[in-house]
Amino acid sequence: IPITAPDNISDCVTASSNLRNSADAVRGLACCPPVLSTDKPKDYVLPTNPVTRIRPAAQRATSDYVAKYQQAIQAMKDLPDDHPHSWKQQGKIHCAYCNGGYSQGQTGHPELQLQIHNSWLFFPFHRWYLYFYEKILGKLINDPSFAIPFWNWDNPTGMVLPGMFEDNGRNNPLFDPFRDATHLPPTIFDIEYAGKDTGASCIDQIGINLPSMYRQMITNASDTTSFFGGEFVAGDDPLNKQFNVAGSIEAGVHTAAHRWVGNPRMANGEDMGNFYSAGYDPLFYVHHANVDRMWKIWKDVDRKGHKDPTAGDWLNASYVFYDENENLVRVYNRDCVDVRKMGYDYERSEIPWIRSRP
Ligand code: C2O
Repeated sequence: IPITAPDNISDCVTASSNLRNSADAVRGLACCPPVLSTDKPKDYVLPTNPVTRIRPAAQRATSDYVAKYQQAIQAMKDLPDDHPHSWKQQGKIHCAYCNGGYSQGQTGHPELQLQIHNSWLFFPFHRWYLYFYEKILGKLINDPSFAIPFWNWDNPTGMVLPGMFEDNGRNNPLFDPFRDATHLPPTIFDIEYAGKDTGASCIDQIGINLPSMYRQMITNASDTTSFFGGEFVAGDDPLNKQFNVAGSIEAGVHTAAHRWVGNPRMANGEDMGNFYSAGYDPLFYVHHANVDRMWKIWKDVDRKGHKDPTAGDWLNASYVFYDENENLVRVYNRDCVDVRKMGYDYERSEIPWIRSRP
């Protein structure tokens, strides 16, 4: 039986897990979505002829684009907190799905938490999450073609924290004060960051990062399971290590960026360093756009060998979101395997790591 988010979002409880010091984070853990109606979520149908939203590489974004993006985020931040499209609520989605807000009650296991990390649910859940986040931003600025940027950390031109996210002294809505202040540009992101800086020069760090990308995308991702992570189905307990097998990208550069950006002086590495708070940093969605882009590239570089999971338990796993019209909808993994069908794509950017076999 596939993992199935509850029909009844009012079954959501205060989140509890993955915290090293819950005292600090208690307020953040009240992360259930607002309940607007008691109707069951409807199955979501992808629009048939969508305008393709092209997600730009953050380091190449034009100033007009940045202004528009800032305007959209500001509009989201200006909504009342209890609005399903508000900045707070969008961030809370991550907490609810990752820190124990939902149970597996829908599939007969109310005693087990629902968790979308450390398994094959990682790529599809985050793809849907970004999908609605992007459409909501587009709606807020009245531009259905609006696309979020991606943090192009796999290309040397994008290996620093993108400039648009820095404090500009003018209340930049893309800035988040809860970040590691020692990792601002020109510091090069360490794709294998595990809590300690390497001290490598810029050039050397790039030389470490490229073969690391090759390993995560090719060498250690030769089959479906190694790239996507382990199976996770109804009845599996996410608190049991056996069911926590992350794929190469999730365990690698994905987690490294969370830790590298989060503030190590905060009890839980807030914001990016913990599931419950990651969604409060605008950079989260831009980081995840590139993670999502890796899924697409992984399939594109080997169309015969690199395949999405085909098990029904993966295809039919589902999550519940508020769409851009405030309708509660249920979305399935099977409908998110093709970005073009979802109405978006990524601006082309070279992948020099493909020639960096270690
Ligand atoms: Cu849901 Cu980057 O984590």
